[in-house]
This record gives sequence, C-alpha cells and structure tokens, in this order.
Amino acid sequence: MTALWTSAEIEAATGGTASAPFEVTGITFDSREAGPGDLFVAMPGTAHDGHDFITAALQNGASAVLSRKPLHCPHIVVDDVAKALESLAKAARDRLDPKAVVIGVTGSVGKTSTKEALAAALTRSRKGHVHRSVKSYNNHTGVPLSLARMPRGTCFAVLEMGMNHAGEIAGLTRLVRPHIALITAIAPAHIENLGSIEAIADAKGEIFEGLEGRRIAIIPDDTPQRDNLVRAARGHAEEVITFGRSDNADISALHAVDSTGLGSLVTARLLASELTFTLSQRGDHWISNALAVLAAVEAAGADLAAAGLALGDLGGLKGRGERHVIALTGGEALLIDESYNANPASMAATLKSLGEERVTGRRIAVLGAMRELGAESEREHRAIAEPALVAGVDRLILIGPEYDGLAAELTGRIAVDQVADVSAATERLTASIAPGDAVLVKASNSIGLARLVDALAGGRTPAGQEALR
Ligand SMILES: Nc1ncnc2c1ncn2[C@@H]1O[C@H](COP(=O)(O)OP(=O)(O)O)[C@@H](O)[C@H]1O
Ligand SMILES: [Mg+2]
Repeated sequence: MTALWTSAEIEAATGGTASAPFEVTGITFDSREAGPGDLFVAMPGTAHDGHDFITAALQNGASAVLSRKPLHCPHIVVDDVAKALESLAKAARDRLDPKAVVIGVTGSVGKTSTKEALAAALTRSRKGHVHRSVKSYNNHTGVPLSLARMPRGTCFAVLEMGMNHAGEIAGLTRLVRPHIALITAIAPAHIENLGSIEAIADAKGEIFEGLEGRRIAIIPDDTPQRDNLVRAARGHAEEVITFGRSDNADISALHAVDSTGLGSLVTARLLASELTFTLSQRGDHWISNALAVLAAVEAAGADLAAAGLALGDLGGLKGRGERHVIALTGGEALLIDESYNANPASMAATLKSLGEERVTGRRIAVLGAMRELGAESEREHRAIAEPALVAGVDRLILIGPEYDGLAAELTGRIAVDQVADVSAATERLTASIAPGDAVLVKASNSIGLARLVDALAGGRTPAGQEALR
C-alpha cells in the first residue's frame, strides 16, 4: 500500500525529529480507532491528554506516534502536537494535484448528510479517489485530521466544517482552501453563542474567505439569510450559485413527488441541463440536500448522471435517518433513528417526513431535548406542537423538563408521556410499540437516544439498505 506519510515528509512538514525512518498508511488521534499502519497523534485535549493513551494506541496496533516527548517505539517528537497536526494538514493540501477539486461544506444543519451524499455522488463518477471527512470531524481538530488523512492522488475532497463561535470557520477554511464552498442551510443552531440568526449566517459565510482557484460559492435560496450570504460570497467568489425549491434559485426542483413511499422522484433544473432522479432519502430537507449536491457536482465538472444514480441508493446514516425494521410478535414496526442531532429546523423536517410515512399502525415520536438554544429553548420546544399535529403524530414520548410546555399544550390532543430519562423512554416505547407503527427517535446527540435505538434495534440490519458510513 502506498504510504500516506513517510517519516521524512512528516519531519519536513512539522519540523519534528523521527526516531528512525518509517511509513504510515493512516492517522488518528483516538486510541480506540488506532490500528496497524496508523500514526497515533497524541493530542492535548481539555479533559484528556493524548499522551496518556499512547500505550492503548500501541496495543491496538498503531505503528508510530506523533508526540511531545521521546518514546520507546517509532515516533516523531514535536514541540506542539496540535500545531504539528495542522502543519501536516497544510502539507496534505499543498501536495494535492492542481487539477484536484476541494469542496468545503458548512451550514447549520445537513452538513454531514450533504457531505456523505456528495462524496457518494463523486465516487460514482469514477474519476479518481474521493476523500471525505469521516463522521462529523468538523472542528479545529477534526478538520486538520481530515486533511492530514487525505491521500496523495486525491481527485475530489469533500471536507465538513462546523462551528460554535464566530471566527472558527474563518480559520478552518484557510486550512481547507476550498475551490467550491457550499452552505447547506441556515437555522438557529448554536444561537446561544452567536446571538442572532444574522450572526449565524455571517459566521457560516466566513467559509468563502478561504476560496481559491475557480472560487465558486453555493448558497441555499430558501432562507431569509440568502441575500446576506450572497453578499458575503461576492467578496470572495467568482461565481455564486443558489439552490432551493423556488424558481428563483439557479438550481431548483421542477417536480418532486413522494408517491412511492420509497423516497422521492425529483426533476432538477441545473445550470446547463435538467436531471430526473430518484432520491432514496425521505423528506423535504433531503430534496434540498440533493439540490446542493448536484450544484456542487456540476460546479466540480463531475458526472451528473452518475450523481443522480448515487442519490437513488444512498443508505441511511446512523443517527441521521437510518431505518430499522423491528420484529415484534405479530408483525414489524419501523424505527427511524434520528438520535444524532436535533434543532428546530431538523425537528420540523423529520416530523413532516414521519407524517408522510405510510403506516398501518400509529405514528410515534420519541423526542429528547434540542441543545444550545439559549433563551429560545422554551419557545422552540413548545413550537414542536404544530409540526407534530400537522404530521398526525398519535403518541409522543417526551424526555426531560424542556418539554413541560409542549406536554401541557398537547395533552388531550395527542397521547403524551413525559419521562425523566432515556431508560424510562425505552421502557415506555418497548411497552407500547406494536406491529405497523412508525417510530421517530430524535434528540440532540448528548441526550443519548442512541441507547434506545440500540435497545430496540441493536444488531439488526437497517431496513432495505446498507448503512452509508
Ligand atoms: N437541509 C436540511 N434542513 C433541515 N434539516 C436537515 C437537513 N439535512 C439534514 N437535516 C436533519 O438534520 C439532522 C442532522 O443532519 P446532519 O447532516 O448530521 O447535520 P450536521 O452535520 O450539520 O450537524 C438530520 O438527522 C436531519 O434530521
Ligand atoms: Mg455533522
């Protein structure tokens, strides 16, 4: 296998000193992920210091260590491990072929979904290696890691960038130096830190500051922040492309029908053509993500027909819409795992999709709190009433005091159980789930609703499709 990095290259990039020449084929800062061929990066953290996990990483098979101090194994000593990882990221970006296309993805919601779908679409066009960030590695450590993992010879790179505070994306985008910068959607996530939706849009717009080469900005049209984003993009981009449901958008959906119950049939108007494709993922938010993907594929000069095929067989992402069939006595129920993330926009979008599921039983939603809403928290949790009613939800299992207002508002109109924690919610759901039911499970990741999903669906294969991971 070709080396990802030789020790000489790492020395040159970081100014560090290697114990002896070696090569690595992978790189990680999580000792649990480390395996043969990997460089373990002993990152200092706020809670833990990676240096305490070197032994664990080596036991898991790691081949070498990037460390602050000399070790009795192949290693490179550097003054500052976090800075060294950033230097490696810069070197990875610098060594890319000038013809390669780097696409940066940010937004309030839909980053990982869009990143995965875009990488799948580009992979289908078989033009060469497609590199993407894994999971949601999108912050000041995740982005450098994702870049440092980029193999030489990469043709397309899709990198997710996230933020909690203003100024973060500005730093990340200067490292990524995207040719194409895509914003998926603007919504009140992290409003606690940023103060207003305008400030959120400004912070996302920082992604354009790193644009280089062909410098294309891709922006959601369906947001009140559209004009602000276009203005931010114009300062840095040569071309601005908008996508969205309305005709005004450059890339739009001419028709979208969800008649099959198996996803949507969409005809999209692109810049230079039209494309009709099926979209395996359900919900309006996925139509939006698909339009963003096609905008990026067209901007990158990749194969649109191949992208259309890829959108037709995207698997569900764990925690972001993965579907599980639960075998029960007398039949089956459907469990939709949205346990990874929740904010007002994604809550409304997925409740709407639940309403569109064909069910012979009931529609049940198990909802945990949406985090980081600050002063808006109470109002936003209560505001779930409308999408829940419109979706025809039959039963709600609500976790935590954040839902006091919603429970009060809906009691008597929908069967509502309010419980203290995930264990209690798991018990309620297990006791009440019946054949034919469709269950939406959604909360911010920190609530831990993944445990409920594991308890009900653990070990079972996702419905219909292989998980896209
Ligand atoms: N374009 C979108 N608009 C609104 N909600 C979305 C969109 N795309 C995905 N979602 C919802 O948001 C959740 C989180 O999606 P994800 O792609 O992980 O976002 P991020 O990476 O930005 O945190 C998904 O489970 C889905 O419910
Ligand atoms: Mg993400």
